[in-house]
Amino acid sequence: MAQSSEEPLEFREYVLGKESELRFEVETNETVVLHITNGKAEIYGAELLQTIEYKFEAGSKIAVFTWHGCKLKIAGKTEGEYVSKDTPMVMYVNTHAVLEQMRNAAEENGSRGPKVMICGPTDSGKTTLCRILLNYALRVGQRPTFVDLDVGQGTVSIPGTLGAVVPEKPLDPVGAFINENPVVYHFGHVSPEANAKYYDHNISLLATVFHLRCSKSRRADIGGLFINTCGFVKGVGYNSLLHAAKEFQVDVVVVLEQERLYNELKKALPKIKVVLLPKSGGVVERSSAYRKESRDKRVHEYFFGYQNALNPHRLEVSFEEIEIFKVGAPVLSNSCLPFDAEPEEYEKKLVPVKVGPELVNKLLAVNHAECEMDIIETNLAGFVVVQEVDLEMETLSLLSPKPYPLPNSYLLMGDLAFMVQQ
Ligand SMILES: Nc1ncnc2c1ncn2[C@@H]1O[C@H](COP(=O)(O)OP(=O)(O)OP(=O)(O)O)[C@@H](O)[C@H]1O
Ligand SMILES: [Mg+2]
Repeated sequence: MAQSSEEPLEFREYVLGKESELRFEVETNETVVLHITNGKAEIYGAELLQTIEYKFEAGSKIAVFTWHGCKLKIAGKTEGEYVSKDTPMVMYVNTHAVLEQMRNAAEENGSRGPKVMICGPTDSGKTTLCRILLNYALRVGQRPTFVDLDVGQGTVSIPGTLGAVVPEKPLDPVGAFINENPVVYHFGHVSPEANAKYYDHNISLLATVFHLRCSKSRRADIGGLFINTCGFVKGVGYNSLLHAAKEFQVDVVVVLEQERLYNELKKALPKIKVVLLPKSGGVVERSSAYRKESRDKRVHEYFFGYQNALNPHRLEVSFEEIEIFKVGAPVLSNSCLPFDAEPEEYEKKLVPVKVGPELVNKLLAVNHAECEMDIIETNLAGFVVVQEVDLEMETLSLLSPKPYPLPNSYLLMGDLAFMVQQ
């Protein structure tokens, strides 16, 4: 049962010693309220203010960490609520200090700031560490770029995308990651495995955007980069890590938890600083059902806003107004190929999609391209979801964050669908 707003909240009080953290997960259908009553604390590198009562949604997995000790009050049903003194935060802050030295050196000698890629197996705390290091950099006035290559979660935009963003201030300790003016590329699947060539192609596009931005802004160049990666670290997943390291000209790779991956990357990237850091004991493993739910939540938030603060629009568009494509045709065996064609061309090939009732609930990405030839090289304007297909009237009804008309006629379809909860 969700808490009724009339019920008085029953607060539990905690006194946290230095370098310790309170960990908890918010139970289904519950909200947890927390405020700091004395001292200072932070959530994943974002400072908490004593003047604010923080509210955490169901499913949130939180660690309130303090460097020098604090007192706090918490109310609402949680799971696994405990205090731990055993955290890797000192090592994480030392990593930040080294990166900050590299930024200072870059500023002094006119070179580029640190470009950091964070890797590790599933549920090793990669995204959390990105968040912590990004917040620490933002708190000292740096402007690093954040790139998310994890198509399973799509923190910059929505799942099935790769994106980059330049946050201006430390991230909200409660809300979503950051998504103001992102540069987003379509992938359409939740694992790089679905089309590794296309995935790597998008990595290269994002890297080009990043280097271009750095060539125009010294501040961006000094601030450097944090790359969040997928937990898929074998086979094509591993190859994509190497590809990303090369394309972004990464100079520091942080590997969480897995010594094997650390050694493999150290060997494969001899000119790059590869460091192994421990996983926090607080990192929570997430089931595939939880991941699916988080993906739906992320898409819901895209259209309806955080805590349903936005009202999406319903647009009617005629079949003529749009062209829908999928990326990737079935790979033909070499003997079926024209003599001058490379097999990989098929993985980046645009395939027209016929409009029909099977499109209902499909998530479509609106591409910015000016002509069909450029679609594969171009970033996204946003997303729509197909609500209805009227074959007689030849119209589609779309859920869209913006009113009519669509910003472009080229739409890209992948595996992702989204059902609007009434
Ligand atoms: N110290 C901590 N205490 C409590 N929960 C934590 C802590 N650190 C991370 N978590 C939670 O654990 C979960 C997994 O962490 P995170 O998302 O950083 O892992 P990941 O390696 O990025 O996972 P994935 O492979 O799915 O991308 C998250 O919900 C995060 O909020
Ligand atoms: Mg992650």
